[in-house]
Amino acid sequence: MRNKERLAVLGAGHVGPVIARLAIAAGYPVAIATSGDPDDIALITELVIPGAQPRWASDAIADADIVVLAIPLHRFAELDPGLLAGKIVVDAMNYWPASDGVLTAFEDDSVNSRGSSEVVARRLAGSAVVKALNHIGYHELEDQARPAGAPDRRAAGLAGDDPAAVAAVAALTSRLGYDPVRLGGLPAGRVLQPGGPVFGQVLTLPEFERAVHEEARSLS
Ligand SMILES: NC(=O)c1ccc[n+]([C@@H]2O[C@H](COP(=O)([O-])OP(=O)(O)OC[C@H]3O[C@@H](n4cnc5c(N)ncnc54)[C@H](OP(=O)(O)O)[C@@H]3O)[C@@H](O)[C@H]2O)c1
Repeated sequence: MRNKERLAVLGAGHVGPVIARLAIAAGYPVAIATSGDPDDIALITELVIPGAQPRWASDAIADADIVVLAIPLHRFAELDPGLLAGKIVVDAMNYWPASDGVLTAFEDDSVNSRGSSEVVARRLAGSAVVKALNHIGYHELEDQARPAGAPDRRAAGLAGDDPAAVAAVAALTSRLGYDPVRLGGLPAGRVLQPGGPVFGQVLTLPEFERAVHEEARSLS
């Protein structure tokens, strides 16, 4: 099966290749990029992500319908928002002060409580940002992927403000191997980030929904 959307995965570290492999298996044409020369990842791509095309990030983005940000958040400022304008952007990033350092814009000061994807979306104002694929560890993301209808299929949450983009990323999530759970606008995606009730969890759909509802009840 070949899907219409072309994917650009930015980041060839832990999680980028896993997302790329799952997407290729699902029939998406996939380009993968780091911040550097694609020649530097050509061999490893051939071995580890067969079928993916290593490209310069700007070229991969230009030809993509959906761009997956699988880079450390402290490197996000390197990206030119202009390149991403008009694209559906999957924000798979998490804010980890221990490895990212303290990034003032992403610090939650409780007065201006916000999720990291809301901060990302503010900078990418010309893009349709969807928070997704950030809350499952890379090993499990691959090992636990199951086709639609499998009895032990797990859930993955997503949140975004643009309904068409959310629909496209829900379809992507499903084809990658997870029951997509549409949580609402970007602020609803805060439950997906570190410290949230489903972060690091690989849950069935009922378990996922229960965890999110219990969190909402505890905050009300
Ligand atoms: N690890 C997980 O299980 C997991 C799961 C879900 C989400 N996440 C989130 O995904 C993000 C990446 O995590 P990771 O563990 O995969 O990181 P990682 O192993 O450190 O890999 C980061 C990759 O991003 C590339 N990169 C950095 N800046 C870039 C730029 N400006 N343009 C294009 N590529 C760039 C790096 O290549 P160069 O330095 O060569 O450019 C490297 O290939 C983090 O925010 C993390 O929280 C991780």
